[in-house]
Amino acid sequence: MKDKLKKIKDEFLKRIKECSSLDDLEKIEKDYLGRKRGKITLLFKKLKTLPPEERPSVGALLNQVKKEIKERIEKSRFQLRDREKEKLSFDITLPGKKIELGHLHPITQFLEKVIDVFLSLGFEVVEGREIETEKYNFDLLNIPSEHPARDVWDTFYLKQYHQEKIKGEGKLLLRTHTSPMQIRAMEKRKPPVRLIIPGRVFRHEATDPGHETTFYQCEGLVIDKEIKVTDLIGTLKIVLERIFKKKIRIRVRPSYYPFVEPGLDIDMQCLICGGKGCSVCKQTGWLEMLGSGMVHPQVLKNMGLSPEKYSGFAFGMGIDRMMMFYYGVNDVRLSYSGDLRFINQF
Ligand code: PHE
Repeated sequence: MKDKLKKIKDEFLKRIKECSSLDDLEKIEKDYLGRKRGKITLLFKKLKTLPPEERPSVGALLNQVKKEIKERIEKSRFQLRDREKEKLSFDITLPGKKIELGHLHPITQFLEKVIDVFLSLGFEVVEGREIETEKYNFDLLNIPSEHPARDVWDTFYLKQYHQEKIKGEGKLLLRTHTSPMQIRAMEKRKPPVRLIIPGRVFRHEATDPGHETTFYQCEGLVIDKEIKVTDLIGTLKIVLERIFKKKIRIRVRPSYYPFVEPGLDIDMQCLICGGKGCSVCKQTGWLEMLGSGMVHPQVLKNMGLSPEKYSGFAFGMGIDRMMMFYYGVNDVRLSYSGDLRFINQF
């Protein structure tokens, strides 16, 4: 048995010298110390078959060898671990992997361009609230509750339990346009004013490539003495040319909004086909860009201003639509899809 033990030990030492990985080491450990078939373990089991007088000395020797093997294995384990760590450690001279940074959403990027254009013309930027009351979203804008024009703005109302606090302002709702901020801004200002109010608006509508339930508008309001329709048209033409960075043709059509008189819709010659007619402009050659008009005398009164003394114009542009024309996107819904394949193109 002692001979056998020596043979096993020599064989072990040879194997451990050649062992070059932690996997190998595990195999070796199992072969010698494994609880069922380990070579040393089996020898321990054989102790019983020896004559009783030999057992203590052989047993002691066995224990000794087992201890040595265990220690040798542990030592190798440390060495191999160190070596593997070295292998894993990185080469500091290699160029690093870039951490991917996010970037501004195309709508935000475009909105910032629009805001810059207005700043260059001396406009003030005002922010508004997204939750409004019927009073501001409709009544003060000359749209009383029985007015059929309320149907134009399909409205999301807030749940009943949010309604209780507001007295005399009607129901709470998600603003359907940025126009209520015309009134709120004038509660704190006196003419002359040149304001824009960019922000999100909400409409309870079915979506399609041209419509979303949530989108951005940029409201504009200019009030002073002797503001005329030509100021409105001239200003908006310059604004569009600065946004799109080229000479453009616009077309002005009569339109109706209860808070302006007259109401004007402004179209821009289609950028894609140059006016010949294409799928983007639905063969008309023109793109509808914004609603506008001269501030209605009743609305001026609601702002605490005398229509005899002051006049003004207002407009509301759909930022999402404009962004689509600007970048050549054919479906507004992509903007809010969260699809990085879309977002990363900007
Ligand atoms: N608020 C109108 C809309 O959302 C747009 C508009 C604004 C029209 C200002 C005229 C003047 O449709």
